[in-house]
Order: sequence, then structure tokens, then C-alpha cells
Amino acid sequence: MTDAHAAPRGVGVVVVAAGSGSRLGAGRPKAFVPLGGRPLLDWALEGVAAVAGLRSVAVVVPAELVDADGWAGVALPPGATVVAGGAERTESVAAGLAVLDPACDVVLVHDAARCLTPVSVFDRVVEAVRAGADGVVPGLAVVDTVKTVDTEGYVTGTPDRSGLRAVQTPQGFPRDVLLGAHASGMVATDDAALVERTGHRVRVVEGDPLAFKVTTPDDLARAERLVARA
Ligand code: C5P
Repeated sequence: MTDAHAAPRGVGVVVVAAGSGSRLGAGRPKAFVPLGGRPLLDWALEGVAAVAGLRSVAVVVPAELVDADGWAGVALPPGATVVAGGAERTESVAAGLAVLDPACDVVLVHDAARCLTPVSVFDRVVEAVRAGADGVVPGLAVVDTVKTVDTEGYVTGTPDRSGLRAVQTPQGFPRDVLLGAHASGMVATDDAALVERTGHRVRVVEGDPLAFKVTTPDDLARAERLVARA
């Protein structure tokens, strides 16, 4: 039994914002790109600050920004710790986990780039972890047919679309399960993959189209339209 089944002790959130943002091409780390006049990271932290039972927040940014100027306009949640990330997302998450209050029984890992994620998604994920899941990811049904391909670009298979989900963040875990998965030393593009590979079952809950990841200039334009409308 994991400690998520004991009395709730609080939610810890690792917000990863240490990516370079090269695909966005904004000339600065993506987390500090303005969206509706505020840094993207500020939008992400606004959602995090509203999570029920929040106890601890780790904000993981590029090393050169930990002590730099340029934080104007970013409202850090009370007691948040800022820490330097690594070259891979997995390393950045591990750096955040290391500074999170160890008393948290549930840990969420969230991409700052999913800056408009509604708080209802956070709440759904926490609720499913507290209900006993070893890992929880928000996911959406896939609308395109997806092909697997070889290195030459030839199709090797067509998975049944009804069994596919495009997954988002926040991803949630009992703290001990996530720490164990990271201690394995494996690297993956999300945390659920590490938890799956260490033998745990991960559950999918309903995601939200607003939890899309700002990756390209088109994504940023979409986010700008959404915040202008709000
Ligand atoms: O690169 P990717 O799209 O997977 O990034 C998802 C999130 O992980 C982004 O918020 C990005 O800032 C973060 N990241 C990180 N450290 C890295 C790479 C990505 O914190 N080395």
C-alpha cells in the first residue's frame, strides 16, 4: 500500500519550465515568453496555486535563470522553491522532486508549457490518486489515425485508434511511487512512462483541450486568442 492511502498530507507540484523553447523560436526560454502581457510561467503557476490541498511547489527553470533578473511578472505561489533543471525533462523533474516538501503524499508533475490547463484537470488527477491509483494521466481521444513508422519512413503498423489517448499534464502519483520510478535511472518523455516501466498501473482520466502544450508559434497564437477572449 502506498502512503496516498493514508490520511491526506498535501499535494506537491513540480512545474517543469527548463526547456529551451527552440521550437517556439522566441529567442528566450519558453516559460518567460509573454502571453497576454504576462510570462507563460505566470499563467501556469496561477493554475497550480488554485489546486486544493496544495502544500509545496517546485519551479524548475534553466540554470542561468535561477538567480537572474526577468522574474518580474511571475507570481510564485507562497513557499515555492526555484531550482535549476537538466538537459532532459526527466532530469528536470528529478531536480524538482528533490526540493519538494517530503510531507506531501501526492505529487503532480506539470509542464509549464501547458499554461492554460483548467484547475478541474488538476483536481480530477488528485482525486484519482487519492482513490488508490499508482499513476494518473489526463488524456484525450485521438482524432487522427496514427501510424508507426520505421527509420526510412515506411509504415510498420496502424494501431486501433479507439485504444489510443493523447496524454497531457498534470500527471499525478503517490510520492513514494514517483520517487521509486525516478530512482530507476530511466529517462522518458513523461513520468507515467517511468512508473509504467517500474511495474505500476497508470490510469487515464479525462483531459481538457485547454491543457494543450505551447510548442510552436501557432500554439502561442492560439493561446493568445484564448486569453484575449477570456
Ligand atoms: O520538450 P517538451 O515539450 O517535452 O517539454 C515539456 C515541458 O518540460 C516544458 O514545460 C519544458 O519547459 C519542460 N522541460 C524541462 N527540462 C527539459 C526539457 C523540457 O523542464 N530539459
